[in-house]
Amino acid sequence: MADLLVTGGAGFIGSNFVHHVVAHTDHRVTVLDKLTYAGNRASLAGLPEDRVRLVEGDIADAELVDGLFAEVDAVVHYAAESHNDNSLHDPRPFLDTNIIGTYTLLEAARRLDRRFHHISTDEVYGDLELDDPQRFTEDTPYNPSSPYSSTKAGSDLLVRAWVRSFGVRATISNCSNNYGPYQHVEKFIPRQITNVIRGIRPKLYGKGENVRDWIHADDHSSAVLTILDRGEIGETYLIGADGEKNNKDVVEMILEIMGEPRDAYDHVTDRAGHDLRYAIDSTKLRSDLGWTPSFGDFESGLAATIQWYRDNEAWWAPAKDGVEAFYASKGQ
Ligand code: NAD
Ligand code: DAU
Repeated sequence: MADLLVTGGAGFIGSNFVHHVVAHTDHRVTVLDKLTYAGNRASLAGLPEDRVRLVEGDIADAELVDGLFAEVDAVVHYAAESHNDNSLHDPRPFLDTNIIGTYTLLEAARRLDRRFHHISTDEVYGDLELDDPQRFTEDTPYNPSSPYSSTKAGSDLLVRAWVRSFGVRATISNCSNNYGPYQHVEKFIPRQITNVIRGIRPKLYGKGENVRDWIHADDHSSAVLTILDRGEIGETYLIGADGEKNNKDVVEMILEIMGEPRDAYDHVTDRAGHDLRYAIDSTKLRSDLGWTPSFGDFESGLAATIQWYRDNEAWWAPAKDGVEAFYASKGQ
């Protein structure tokens, strides 16, 4: 049994991780979350109070962070500004949280000598051509495209420097696109599901040819626990489940599962600087640490996710109108 500090644990992937930890280990969890527009207490509802505690606060608050690090054995760092479209509109919060916030946590890890796992993204590697035979590996050079991905790349480099210069006991993981319950309605899959529930046509950026490599959030969680248990300090592990699909195919699959015509969507203004394709080669994680994903079939994982949004309208409805008004103002 260990005490974990999970930053961003009231967000999409962080809350899925907390649920996974409670279900599969006997660890206790302290969540540190600023509860920005993306954080939601309700994502932790129903978890046992003697196992999970939520502290509302900023990862850039050094005094608060030091006090919480002192109470735990290890830290898993999910907190971030995470949405590319928002970073094109207002990059500043991405610098504050993703760079200064991560720096603040690393300094605490150094001072208090705590095991640190940093959650990052495949977007730090830029994008691939549709026919590129080589997927991203741990050796792919960094080449981020957006304010979001460049701040995530910067945070990864800070972690590497703190390992080498100060001996911080850290690992890094870079994961592909997650789907599952508790994802904010600003993101692609929940936006389209909740549009269909509301009678709004799904919105596809550009031609819909962009490819994302989908993994269920629960598989991301099992990979992170594996790295926390058996990962080698200083190493980076790529997490992916061989789930490449283009956006058009995903929208059509959502419409079909929800009983609508497959062509009942609109093409809208494309994202500026839109990355074409992400694809992860997770051989290192699988062969060195023995991890395998459990959600082999994207379509059944997607169907379960659709059902979750049908069953949990009270969770997503408060954010829906504001998100759609924001997209509409940009022709999206
Ligand atoms: P999210 O936007 O759903 O959640 C982010 C959480 O961080 C929210 O609860 C928010 O309140 C909290 N937060 C933001 N700023 C904070 C601050 N200054 N202090 C404390 N808490 C703060 O994001 P997500 O999609 O769950 O992503 C979580 C992590 O996983 C991020 O680091 C992201 O880069 C990474 N990641 C995401 C994906 C994906 O597909 N969503 C894929 C790979 C990696
Ligand atoms: O690859 C990992 C990344 O995946 C994470 O680092 C990010 O935090 C996460 O947000 C996600 O980034 P993307 O930009 O790929 O995800 P998003 O859900 O915003 O968009 C997925 C794809 O769908 C992308 O090609 C843009 C497109 N899209 C998005 C929206 C919101 C649409 O076609 N229509 C939409 O309405």
